[in-house]
Amino acid sequence: MSTPQRGILPEGSSHVIFLTLRRRLGRPADAAMRTLIGQLPQHAEEVAAVYPEARFSAVLALGEHGWADLFGDARPARFRGFPRIAGAIHPAPATEGDLLLHVRAERYDLVYEFADRFATSLQAWFEVVESVTAFKYREWRDLTGFVDGTENPHGDDERAEAALVGDEDAAWAGGSYVHTQRYVHRMQQWNALAVKQQEAVMGRTKAQDEELSDEDKPLTAHIARVVIEEDGKELEMLRHSMPYGTPGGEKGLLFASYCRTPDVFEKMLARMVAPTSDGRVDHLLTYSRAVTGGAFFAPSREVLQALAA
Ligand code: HEM
Repeated sequence: MSTPQRGILPEGSSHVIFLTLRRRLGRPADAAMRTLIGQLPQHAEEVAAVYPEARFSAVLALGEHGWADLFGDARPARFRGFPRIAGAIHPAPATEGDLLLHVRAERYDLVYEFADRFATSLQAWFEVVESVTAFKYREWRDLTGFVDGTENPHGDDERAEAALVGDEDAAWAGGSYVHTQRYVHRMQQWNALAVKQQEAVMGRTKAQDEELSDEDKPLTAHIARVVIEEDGKELEMLRHSMPYGTPGGEKGLLFASYCRTPDVFEKMLARMVAPTSDGRVDHLLTYSRAVTGGAFFAPSREVLQALAA
């Protein structure tokens, strides 16, 4: 029996925190640390049960470094660090982290409290390296003004197919390969473009959120880069990206994807940042640059809970 962590499959939420933590040097892993990590799915269930209207959920994913402290030599078949893309001309830095907590709900207070309790309970072993508070903007739009998430798989079956490890790696079934990148938008340059130019960058219309025709869609458009067909099927990922920002300050998109295999994210990213496949890169990256990058694995609830046994 393998159940995905609450928070992978459900549709988006209005309030989100992405918390990245890193192991402190000099404090070895012990049973108390493993228990706190293993209790997370149960704690998330409890909050969700008390406030059903808030649609609370949380996912805990673990980075490669420090993995052995929790699971020894056992690891998902395709687990690896954030990719270094050969020939990249746009930045895609690997900043890594040892834990990623992705908490979301329709109530910010619940999200905040859960993330804070988690970070505080583990502070002897882990320090917070980044906490990004993200929010639903208008009709699920990115701060560029374009709707984000339209072509995500919909419905639990399709979403599970894209996001969850299956029988191909039975010991880790119900788990998911997670990638995050914090993008900072160049809003001034972006806003200086006419809407038609912005649409050519994205490959979709802005107001109506429709895909441009093949004749109108440049090969450098974002969606032209990330739609990849193999053996007659499009590669699928489940995105949970969300806008973040401070008024008058830095703003952008916290990109987050959940995949059955890390190959999907890696292939899409390669076609965005490196001109190796057809001499082109993603024009969107002229207007937004990645400043962080992390690769994680979110084990099933049962696998995580076994740490607390
Ligand atoms: C589609 C924005 C980064 C993968 C889209 C869409 C927007 C968007 C507006 C169209 C609506 C939709 O179907 O969701 C952005 C922004 C990014 C970003 C603002 C960063 C600045 C990425 C990255 C990847 C990615 C890093 C993967 C490595 C996809 C995929 C689609 C998509 C798979 C759906 C394509 C389709 O099936 O038509 N993105 N994206 N995006 N994006 Fe991104």
